[in-house]
Amino acid sequence: MCGIIGATGPIPVAKILIEGLERLEYRGYDSAGVALVVEGGIWRTRAAVSTVSMKSLADAVVNAPKVLDAGVGHTRWATHGAPNERNAHPHSDCTGKVAIVHNGIIENHAILSSRLIEDGHNLASDTDSEVIAHLVEENLRDGSSLTQAVLNTLKVIEGTYAIAAVRSDEPGTVVAARNVSPLIVGVSEGASYVASDIPAILGRAEKYFSVADGQVVTLKGENLQVDVVGEAPGELMPLEVSWDLDMAQKGGYESFMLKEIDEEPRAIADTLRMRGIEAIEMFDELNLDPAVLRQIDKIFLVACGTSFHAAMVAKYAFEHWCKIPVELDIASEFRYRDPVVDGKTLVIGVSQSGETIDTLQALREARRLGSHAIAVANVVDSSMTREADGVLYTRAGPEIGVAATKTFVAQVAILEAFALSLAELRNTLYKSETELLMNELLTIPLKVERAIARASEYRSVAKEIGDSKDFFFLGRHVGYPTALEGALKLKEISYLHAEGFAAGELKHGPIALIDSSSVVIGVATRGRLWSKVLSNLEEVRARGARVVVVANEDDTQTAHFGDYVFKVPSTHELFAPLIDIIPLQFLAYDLALQHGNDVDRPRNLAKTVTVE
Ligand code: M6R
Repeated sequence: MCGIIGATGPIPVAKILIEGLERLEYRGYDSAGVALVVEGGIWRTRAAVSTVSMKSLADAVVNAPKVLDAGVGHTRWATHGAPNERNAHPHSDCTGKVAIVHNGIIENHAILSSRLIEDGHNLASDTDSEVIAHLVEENLRDGSSLTQAVLNTLKVIEGTYAIAAVRSDEPGTVVAARNVSPLIVGVSEGASYVASDIPAILGRAEKYFSVADGQVVTLKGENLQVDVVGEAPGELMPLEVSWDLDMAQKGGYESFMLKEIDEEPRAIADTLRMRGIEAIEMFDELNLDPAVLRQIDKIFLVACGTSFHAAMVAKYAFEHWCKIPVELDIASEFRYRDPVVDGKTLVIGVSQSGETIDTLQALREARRLGSHAIAVANVVDSSMTREADGVLYTRAGPEIGVAATKTFVAQVAILEAFALSLAELRNTLYKSETELLMNELLTIPLKVERAIARASEYRSVAKEIGDSKDFFFLGRHVGYPTALEGALKLKEISYLHAEGFAAGELKHGPIALIDSSSVVIGVATRGRLWSKVLSNLEEVRARGARVVVVANEDDTQTAHFGDYVFKVPSTHELFAPLIDIIPLQFLAYDLALQHGNDVDRPRNLAKTVTVE
């Protein structure tokens, strides 16, 4: 995925684009660039971010000629073509009078570029996106406006896109279009903006709108004109944005990841809205009749990465409290394995971004097969929230760090709250039981805060074990997804070898890997399998591994089973992942710093993956 931005009006366009790109970097940082409409043409600057930082892009922009009230910018996560300057957006046409930025994939780019080259166009990059600039160039030749040229271009391109284009002959104008890839528009007095995501223009726009598939929006100062391709609606949909600028900025923290770990108590509290046990009807956007929910006889949870681990925790909760069989699928596998679903199946897609293509496709497949499909998402109006029957929103605020932290706990919290309400609705728990459990869930923000207050303890353990190259995370029951998530965090940002295992499975093979150079992190908070986890930890200690135990702070026994201990507050065992993950996030964070890595922008990763 990539991030795009455009701005128009008598405003400091270049500065706004650069700041917006900085806030969009979580969508990709292989390269970045801006194109500004200036006297006599388009002025472009581009940089491969690994060699030239966003700061030098900002320095270059200072020397740009006077900007004529319009420009576009792009930050890239490479799909077609190496991550170098040549392939960086904005791309231009042969005349140099048009510049475009694109997020998505033009599926028929090979045919289009062969045809364009035959017709004498000079394509300067290896990207799929550049064809758009040359097609717009062709469509301008009959005297069409930029808007009309973009509309005609969309008739021949196939694939997914969010596009923004500028033209030197139309100063003060940006034309944007969408098909599948996210795009929003913001307006303030005299100016308007277009971007892949809200954080890019937070604090600038006063009103926000979401652009629908098939809409082409022409932005000129504060004026918006909407044209459509096919059946698209003729009006933009207003967006209610509750995020503020502080949420999208580091606010004095050394990294977004650290800030977002600190925000976890609030993310959980806001997600639960601290209102106590909610009847099913109170889940605002769920959109499913209680009668339908009573009839559900199977749940599928589909997700990727960290969201998959949150879904895995939820599987234990749904089965235990609601007595509904739950299948758990990696989203990219779901639709290729002939899942058996029907009108009594509820498929829940879990996703921070609501845009991950694997999860989106799984939800589409679920609906095509006739099941009910809901999305758990953090981003309002993201693709999954539009396409699913209903939504359970996490209210974690924007998550910019590529490594998911606060959205993991928010996802677990909303799924568990939903499971409790479902259990009450289906009479698998007494109201008094759900109330007790919900009251405990509502104490979690404070307990997470207590865990975060121990950060310095966690970080000093990280120093002790930082010399190791192999980390094994073990857990059982809900400690297993916690272990998987701890390992994922560590490998994502520290680039060290880390694996998570169901602790009881280790003896069936992986234990062969353990030796005195290994570090084993055991999730050993009190739960039904606590003593078994301790036995599994004894097995690895006997083979020389250094062991760190995650143990309840009021537990005097468990610490003896490790060389080091991460103490955490105790809770009901099904809520434990919400707290136990905290030291593992700090561990990953510290080891990444020890290795000199950029925690917010780990290599090869993008925050949201919109390609299969
Ligand atoms: O936006 P999503 O939750 O659908 O994203 C899923 C994964 O790509 C994501 O969780 C990824 O694994 C993160 N980098 C985890 O930190």
